[in-house]
Order: sequence, then C-alpha cells, then structure tokens
Amino acid sequence: MKKPSEIKPATGKLGVLLPGFGAVATTFVAGVEAIRRGIAEPIGSLTQLNTIRLGKRTDGRTPRIKDFVPLTELDDLVFGAWDPIPDDGYASAINAGVLQKEKHLDPIKDFLTSIKPMPAVFDTSYVKKLEGPNVKSGATKRDLAEQLREDIRRFKKENDCARLVMVWCGSTEIYVRPSAVHETIESFEKGMDENHKDIAPSQLYAYAAIMEGVPYANGAPNLSADFAALESLAKTKGVPICGKDFKTGQTLMKTILAPGFKTRMLGLSGWFSTNILGNRDGEVLDDPESFKSKEVSKLGVLENILQPEMYPQLYGNMYHKVRINYYPPRGDNKEGWDNIDIFGWMGYEMQIKVDFLCRDSILAAPIVLDLAIFLDLASRAGMSGIQEWLSFYFKSPQTAPGLYAEHDIFIQHWKLKNTLRWMMGEEMVTHLGVEYYD
Ligand SMILES: NC(=O)c1ccc[n+]([C@@H]2O[C@H](COP(=O)([O-])OP(=O)(O)OC[C@H]3O[C@@H](n4cnc5c(N)ncnc54)[C@H](O)[C@@H]3O)[C@@H](O)[C@H]2O)c1
Repeated sequence: MKKPSEIKPATGKLGVLLPGFGAVATTFVAGVEAIRRGIAEPIGSLTQLNTIRLGKRTDGRTPRIKDFVPLTELDDLVFGAWDPIPDDGYASAINAGVLQKEKHLDPIKDFLTSIKPMPAVFDTSYVKKLEGPNVKSGATKRDLAEQLREDIRRFKKENDCARLVMVWCGSTEIYVRPSAVHETIESFEKGMDENHKDIAPSQLYAYAAIMEGVPYANGAPNLSADFAALESLAKTKGVPICGKDFKTGQTLMKTILAPGFKTRMLGLSGWFSTNILGNRDGEVLDDPESFKSKEVSKLGVLENILQPEMYPQLYGNMYHKVRINYYPPRGDNKEGWDNIDIFGWMGYEMQIKVDFLCRDSILAAPIVLDLAIFLDLASRAGMSGIQEWLSFYFKSPQTAPGLYAEHDIFIQHWKLKNTLRWMMGEEMVTHLGVEYYD
C-alpha cells in the first residue's frame, strides 16, 4: 500500500452510524456525551489518552496520539442508529443496565432521548431470540439495502455531516459460511435480488455503507463484510473496512496471557473458559446458532498465538473449551472464569485461575470510539479495503486472503502505532536500540 502523501483535515462533523442500539452502543454514546460535558473520563481509549514515541528514546518526543495525527474531536461527533426495538437512547441505556441512572444517565437524558433508532433491516431467522416492531419491509434484500442507503444519505444531510462511519453494534447473527453468493459483487447483488438465505441483515448494512463511501467496522462475530465480494467492493469504492468481534473480556485476557506463556516457552495442556452473563447479548447467544458464530471467533485466538504446529511438545495436545451461559441475575456484569493448565521445566504441571468480574460494555465502548475515529482517519488518508492495523480491537481480525491474523495484543498494538508513524512519515520503532551503545 502506498504511504499517504497527504491526510485531509478533520473539519466538520463526523456522523457515527450504529446498527444496533443496545448495551454497547448506548454505553458508547452516553460516555462520549458525559466526557463532552466534563462528567467522565475517556478511559480505555487510545485516541483520547495514549501517547506515541517518535524517534529515538533520547529524543524526548512523546506526544498524545491525538496531537500527532489529525483526528476528529469528540465535540464533532453526532450519532445515528437503527434497531428493531424502538427505544430511544435513554430507554435503551436504562434497559441495558450498564450505566448508573442518577449518576450518568439522568444528567444527559435530553441528549439520549434525542437519539431514536431508525427502522432496522431485521429478520428473526438470523437472530432467533429477538423480536421488535421497528423494522423495514421490502420485497427483496436489495430493496432493503437501498432503504439503508437512503437512511445514510438523509442522516448525513439532516445532521450536516462532513463524513460518516458505521460500526455494527447489532446482535450476533447465526453462523453463515461464505458461499458462492459472497464471491463477487455480481453474485452478491444477484443474491440480494433473489433473497438468498446466506445474505444476513448485517451484510446489507455493510453493503449499503460501502456503496455510500462510509467506512465500516463489524463488532460482532458473524459474517458481515469479511468476504470477497465486499472486500473488493471496498477497494473499488476506496472505503476502509475492518472486523470482527470486539476484543473485550475473556478474549482480551487470553490475548494478554497466552503471548506471555509462549514467550517463556511454557507449555499448555488445557484452557477451559466459561462465562455467565445476563444481558440481551447473553440471551441471543443462548441460541446455539448465534453461539456458533461466537465460538468460532473465540476459539481461533489461542491456536493462532501458540502455533501448536511449530511447538507440538508445548501446545500439540492442548484442550480448549469455551462456554457462554445465559444467567439473567448478572445483567451486563458478566463473570468470565478461566482455568489454565500449564506446564514447565521437565513437564511439571501448574494451574492458573482467572476470575474476571467484567463489565463487557464498559470495555467495548472505547473500542467503538477508537474504531470510529481511526476509520475516519484511514479514510481521510486515502486508505481503503481491510485495515489490518486495527486488529488490536478484534477477536477475529480481518486480514488479506491467505494471510494469518496476528492475535498477540502487544504485536497488534505495536502495529497500530507503527501504522500511525508510517502515515505521518515518521521512522518505524523497531526496539532494536543498538545505536544507544555505539
Ligand atoms: N459487549 C462486549 O464486550 C462485546 C464484545 C464483543 C462483541 N460484542 C457484540 O456486540 C454486539 C452488541 O452487543 P450488546 O451487548 O450491545 O448487545 P445488545 O443485545 O444489548 O444490543 C444489540 C442490539 O442490536 C439490535 N439488533 C439486532 N439485529 C439488528 C439489526 N439487524 N439491525 C439493527 N439492530 C439490530 C438488538 O435489537 C439490540 O438492541 C453483539 O453482537 C455482541 O456479541 C459485544
């Protein structure tokens, strides 16, 4: 890919479009507004807090990322959403039960109630456990995609946006494998005309976004923009895309811990992970077909980090199991419990237990913010197609066909920052450091 010669400035408003206005999406928009009003801090967000070292360690140049690359300011963000459930932002956030009503929702009630979800493209065949009246109708999937495109154009005009991005925060759809219909844009468009069963609603949002020149990120594990037809459409239209499945909670822990075991050449005989959660996401994932999408996304991580084919004596016989159990009393505050069986010198066994009393949407919200802001940066820098440098944020990073994904969070972080340096014409940081000893 060619290095951007010029990055367009971030002037004007950036509209952030959110298919799915549940726990993650409302925690994200409420958080941004609370930060803008000075009642919260943007914890967990690289675009708002992280610094970046430039040049040598002795140069003393370590600006904030946001002072180094031209990013959209929080004050310039406006939000739009679609959801089959018609609740406005306040009602949906109350229902999600993530943020405290008196402390964080009531002070921004006017703002939250002003965001009302547009009628969604929704079909219960793809999300079995949900129903809602706020849905579009259309004879074909192509009609529905066209209605989404109209929504996008109308939103942009009504809100006077200079640019848009879309981040899928909708429920996890059933597991769909890429098939012939996903191969080319012609087969995909024909499939939409014929209401092909392998074309799920999230794919229609992704198609609509790319056709409208809107960068797209997929926060769920289902097939959405990660197939040949939309990947090549994104290239042709000059639109950046990335996915999939926000890396939060248990998988975040896995990609922090597993690289550590591997760097020390410690063996792993088993990793048993179980979750209890009681939010709407948990209810949707209680359906085996939606769980299958999640399971595939969660399981790939360890294999990829540990490379059992290269280290058969360490990881060749590892037993990896992931369970998600819907347990209503927990709400959004899930418990992710891991039992890790490792072994060291001469094969002696040890155990590690991790009990993460986690707040899923609190971990996901800054990811939505960073993706929206970085995708917009990529777009202004003229970058298009798969943005692998954003794999830091995903459980199943989207990569070029045939290229294995990097799951190690530290490699991903390094890659992200080097991409920013590369975009701005700064030297890459290699951490070699021999020059300090000459
Ligand atoms: N919270 C996390 O940490 C996390 C991590 C990784 C992935 N995810 C994924 O992010 C997504 C959102 O999670 P959540 O906790 O906010 O779930 P949620 O159930 O609270 O919200 C999802 C919303 O999407 C809506 N929806 C479903 N199908 C839709 C469609 N076709 N169009 C528009 N809206 C639609 C639902 O009505 C619901 O309001 C889920 O797919 C989840 O698996 C979440």
